[in-house]
Amino acid sequence: MQLNQSHRFIVAPMMDWTDRHCRVFHRMMTRHARLYTEMLTTGAVIRGDRRRLLGFDASEHPVALQLGGSDPRDLAIAAKIGEAFGYDEINLNVGCPSDRVKDGRFGACLMAEPALVAAGVDAMKRAVGIPVTVKCRIGIDDQDPELALDMLARGVVAAGADALIVHARKAWLNGLSPKENRDVPPLDYDRVYRLKAAWPRVPIIINGGIANLGEAKRHLLDVDGVMLGRAAYQEPWRLLAVDPELFGVAAPYATMKDVFAAMMPYIEDQLAQGTRLHAMTRHFVGAFHGVPGARAFRRHLAENGVRPGAGANVLRDAIALVEDRAAVPIAA
Ligand SMILES: Cc1cc2nc3c(=O)[nH]c(=O)nc-3n(C[C@H](O)[C@H](O)[C@H](O)COP(=O)(O)O)c2cc1C
Repeated sequence: MQLNQSHRFIVAPMMDWTDRHCRVFHRMMTRHARLYTEMLTTGAVIRGDRRRLLGFDASEHPVALQLGGSDPRDLAIAAKIGEAFGYDEINLNVGCPSDRVKDGRFGACLMAEPALVAAGVDAMKRAVGIPVTVKCRIGIDDQDPELALDMLARGVVAAGADALIVHARKAWLNGLSPKENRDVPPLDYDRVYRLKAAWPRVPIIINGGIANLGEAKRHLLDVDGVMLGRAAYQEPWRLLAVDPELFGVAAPYATMKDVFAAMMPYIEDQLAQGTRLHAMTRHFVGAFHGVPGARAFRRHLAENGVRPGAGANVLRDAIALVEDRAAVPIAA
C-alpha cells in the first residue's frame, strides 16, 4: 500500500476546470496538495494527441492522471502511457454519471460491476510502478450503499489499489443530470467513515460538499484524506491556507498578489507559445472573492482577457483594481 502525505488534501479532478493551467495556478498556492487531471478516456490516451492531452508542467507534481475506461487491457496500456509521461499516480473514475460515460461502460455505472473494476485495477497494478487509486461513489440507483461500497472496496483492495476516494453520495443514473448528481443525492459521510473503520489499513479519502478547510480538518479525524472540488476551484484563495493548516509548513506565498507575481513568468511563457490569455485567466475568477475590488478584477478580465492577442498586461491591470488577500485562518 503506497500513500504519501499529499493525499491528506487533494484538489478533485474536474472536467474542463482542472486543466494544466489551472493546476499550475493551484500549485502556486500549495506545494503539498495532490492535484488531479480532468478525466481522460483510455481511448483518448491511447489514440489521441498525447502531448496535448497528457502534457503538464514540472511544477505540478505530485499530480495524478485520472482515467475513464473499463477494459483492463486498455486501462493497463493507458496507465503505462501516463506513467511514462511522469504522472505520480493513476486514478480510475468510478463516479462520473454522464450519459456519454454510461454508454462507454465506465464511470459510476461500474459500481454495479465490481469484478470488472477489480480486474482493471489488477491490470494497471501489473503495468505500472506508481500508485493506482479508485474514485467512486457510495452506490448507484437502488443499490444498498453498505453492500455496494463494500463489494467495490473488497475487489479493488484485493487487486492492490493504493487508496480509495469516495464521493459520499450515490449517483442516480436515471433522471438526474451530471450537475444534479453532484448535489441532489444526499451526502452520507458516515458511510465513508464506516468504510475506513472496516478497512483501517486502506487509505480512504472523502469527497463531496466539503466547503472549507475547517470542515476538511474535521473529516481528517475519521479518514486519511480529503478531496475538495468546487470549493477549491471557485474560491482558490482557500488553497493558500492548505500548507500551514494541513501540512504544518508555511504557505508558498503570503498573499494572492504574490501568487500572481510568481505566476507571471509561466503566463508569459505560455503566451509566447501561443496559449490564449483567457485559457489561463478563466481559472482566476474567484481568486479575490469577497475582497474589495473583486468585481472590477473579474470584469476587467472578462472584458479584456478574451480579446485576440490579449497579453499579461491585462492581468496586471486587473490585479491593480483589487485589494490584496492574505492567507486566512481556517474558519473562513
Ligand atoms: C465541473 C466539474 C467537472 C467534474 N469532472 C470530474 C471528472 O472529470 N472526474 C471525476 O472523477 N469527477 C469529476 N467531477 C466531480 C468532482 O471530482 C467531485 O467528486 C464533486 O464535485 C464533489 O466534490 P465537491 O462537492 O467538493 O465539488 C467534476 C465536478 C465538477 C464540478
